[in-house]
Amino acid sequence: MKTRITEMFGIEHPIIQGGMHYVGFAEMAAAVSNAGGLGIITGLTQGTPEKLANEIARCKDMTDKPFGVNLTFLPMVNAPDYPGLVRVIIEGGVKIVETAGNNPAQVLPYFKDAGVKVIHKCTSVRHSLKAQSIGCDAVSVDGFECGGHPGEDDIPNMILLPRAADELEIPFVASGGMADGRSLVAALAMGADGMNMGTRFIATKEAPVHENVKAAIVAASELDTRLVMRPLRNTERVMTNDAVEELLKIEKEKGADLKFEDIIEQVAGVYPRIMTEGDMDAGAWSCGMVAGLINDIPTCQELIDSIMAQADEIITQRLAGFQAA
Ligand SMILES: Cc1cc2nc3c(=O)[nH]c(=O)nc-3n(C[C@H](O)[C@H](O)[C@H](O)COP(=O)(O)O)c2cc1C
Repeated sequence: MKTRITEMFGIEHPIIQGGMHYVGFAEMAAAVSNAGGLGIITGLTQGTPEKLANEIARCKDMTDKPFGVNLTFLPMVNAPDYPGLVRVIIEGGVKIVETAGNNPAQVLPYFKDAGVKVIHKCTSVRHSLKAQSIGCDAVSVDGFECGGHPGEDDIPNMILLPRAADELEIPFVASGGMADGRSLVAALAMGADGMNMGTRFIATKEAPVHENVKAAIVAASELDTRLVMRPLRNTERVMTNDAVEELLKIEKEKGADLKFEDIIEQVAGVYPRIMTEGDMDAGAWSCGMVAGLINDIPTCQELIDSIMAQADEIITQRLAGFQAA
């Protein structure tokens, strides 16, 4: 399939694997890229420029296809060495960067000079327009359904995507709730040039996470996510578990007085325990409502091939059939 996104990134299929903390290692990115999508290494999981440079080199050993690096800009007490991370991305020859969180204006000139394409992840039309105005090449439009940080507007993709299509000139991919060929065709119908998936890619053979994480996603229904940290205006959609129910209890008790310190035990530094050790009640971990559509653990190649085959079948059979009738 050829879209503005496949052309821009030099990929076979318009399917991107979004950056994911403690999931987006070289193994994940390479598997997605080798299957014809765009794999993305998560920069902040590596943390230091040296470690990220090493991860980029490892990914290059595993694929000769294009892959990207995610740089998430968050307000942090101990901010990572962003200039150093930008430097190793450019020196490593990576040509695609997915930015997320705060406005990436400060790093854009460096990437532009180096010929790196930037796709910024946004949860609203106004942020998407801002990204376009500062020179981002594309945006990833993340609806309310998404795993991770859906923002504070709560607009689902059935509204958000056509709204983005009406306003944007640069290409965008649909993100949040995407799982299969039906998602892809719907995203294209609403004006997107492809789709970005997070949760779906965790439940694949190559995802370098503990088997318990994959099993939890397969077992979960669309009712099993919760929104946490809303009182801090840092809303995150996570899989429910004992720690999350405790966190929500604390949020209810503290009300508007909630501070980050009150919930630090449930959210800080929990990813390695969950993703690597498989301790599923260790804390809050991002997961999308799309878990309800995930019932298997295929390879990335099987997943992407099945998405493209289903999309083709819908377009040429089901939809064309309506026209013929
Ligand atoms: C476990 C997990 C970790 C994530 N970590 C990040 C991250 O570090 N940076 C980021 O920009 N997005 C992160 N995301 C969001 C994904 O890149 C993607 O936008 C989102 O998962 C799309 O929604 P979906 O899960 O419904 O496909 C994460 C998502 C998940 C599920």
